[in-house]
Amino acid sequence: MTISEHLRSSTRPLALVTGAAGGIGIPLVSRLVAAGYHVLALSRNGGEGAQPFVTPMACDLTKPEQIEQIVGQIAALARPVQALVHCAGLIVPQRMGGTDTSAVASQLAVNLEAPILLTMKLLPHIPSGGHVVFINSMAALVPLEGSSIYTASKFGLRGFALSLAQDVRKCGIHVSSVFPGAVDTPMLKREIDNGGSPLNFVTAPATADGIAAIVMGLLCRPRAEVFCPSSDGILAQLMLMMPRVWRLILPILLKKGRKGLKKYLDGQVGR
Ligand SMILES: NC(=O)c1ccc[n+]([C@@H]2O[C@H](COP(=O)([O-])OP(=O)(O)OC[C@H]3O[C@@H](n4cnc5c(N)ncnc54)[C@H](OP(=O)(O)O)[C@@H]3O)[C@@H](O)[C@H]2O)c1
Repeated sequence: MTISEHLRSSTRPLALVTGAAGGIGIPLVSRLVAAGYHVLALSRNGGEGAQPFVTPMACDLTKPEQIEQIVGQIAALARPVQALVHCAGLIVPQRMGGTDTSAVASQLAVNLEAPILLTMKLLPHIPSGGHVVFINSMAALVPLEGSSIYTASKFGLRGFALSLAQDVRKCGIHVSSVFPGAVDTPMLKREIDNGGSPLNFVTAPATADGIAAIVMGLLCRPRAEVFCPSSDGILAQLMLMMPRVWRLILPILLKKGRKGLKKYLDGQVGR
């Protein structure tokens, strides 16, 4: 697709959002538009219906050539990208032990490789004062049983973001990561249906709009890392420093998580 004339004439600062049609992406796009941005909204099918100040763009993030095409279209605009928010994500719960490797590449591609490639290719178009935001996951700190590939991708994404921040500090570009626990979106529902970890429910799931609001807050007041809820973030960071204590506490957290999952599922009945 080509980028519309409407966008060429728009004077609004540009924000690019991946996963724009997803649970968190939708409220995030609305909030960015309300805050005065023009949003380049990436999804696999390129979006449905016209929305003012939103330019839908089709991109399968598992295909580097499509990422290249998107970057080419943005370069042709000769406009800076003020905010780049990596919101796309994929989880395919699967216990190690089997030999089915079909979901390995897609999770690593969407959660890790694509954010790296897109960031690298777009950096020349991000001005001083611009911002790169990664929607990471508490799984970047808490290893999730049954979701080891997702966990590995999110651990990697945290490392990339922290290194990137050092590389671009001199250019005045901000880098932030948001680490939600569970968020009430289609991803969470798919995760539960496919045997995802009860650790998601140690605390009640956040709302997608709550996470979008955190991103908006970061664009105004940049911070390197934000955990949601912050109490889980503190616990998770302590646990990573002391894996032995983590193993001792894990059964208690799992018990709490199973209770939380039951409460969540009971709440879904009749919704
Ligand atoms: N929900 C949670 O409990 C939770 C918790 C912690 C972190 N997160 C993170 O939050 C972010 C957003 O997740 P969500 O809850 O909003 O999930 P979601 O509703 O499933 O949305 C995920 C988005 O990722 C996009 N995506 C998946 N595969 C893609 C591909 N091959 N190419 C391009 N886009 C692709 C999907 O795009 P299409 O519209 O094209 O399908 C979808 O819009 C993810 O990074 C996730 O890891 C979520």
